[in-house]
Amino acid sequence: MQSYATATELRVLISRDQIARRVAELGEKITHDYQGETIIFVGVLKGASFFLSDLARQVKLDVTFDFISVSSYGGGVRSSGEVRLVKDVDNSLEGKNVIIIEDILDTGLTLSFLRKQFLNHKPRSLKIAALLDKVSRRITDVRGDYVGFEIPDEFVVGYGLDYAEHYRNFPDVCVLPPELQ
Ligand code: IMP
Ligand code: MG
Repeated sequence: MQSYATATELRVLISRDQIARRVAELGEKITHDYQGETIIFVGVLKGASFFLSDLARQVKLDVTFDFISVSSYGGGVRSSGEVRLVKDVDNSLEGKNVIIIEDILDTGLTLSFLRKQFLNHKPRSLKIAALLDKVSRRITDVRGDYVGFEIPDEFVVGYGLDYAEHYRNFPDVCVLPPELQ
């Protein structure tokens, strides 16, 4: 049976304090950029859940939520390369200011798929917020408008990010070493 590490056994890459400070900065930036407007945050389940809830509380504007779910990962560390929409938004995005909230931009396949899907809704504007960005792994031309941290090509867990559904509840972003994958 697979065993899982405890929070104290993994190397912290980005601490909860660093995350909180950066999320506050991103919230201020969004507040500034959308003055006088309302926004819909569309969170990508489940990894973006903590990022969405923390970021939303740092935006001093009218923000509503919707959630989608995509499948691309077979449960391990590498993408199957194929993205499928498992749960769509509940409400139309037509004419709305939409910000897609994602945990991490890796190859970019997920977000370029979502961007294309959402543009079909004819939103007023469409931007992307990602807590983490593994720039070196990108194989599409998608980029984040609000990015928390650029990180090296290491597999990370915590603050919503998982390995086979585990570790999402760790408060810091930690590196999962290859021997635990
Ligand atoms: P992309 O489509 O390759 O950009 O992958 C984005 C998705 O892959 C994210 O939403 C994550 O679910 C997952 N992912 C990519 N890298 C990591 C990682 O280091 N840890 C956990 N999940 C990851
Ligand atoms: Mg994800």
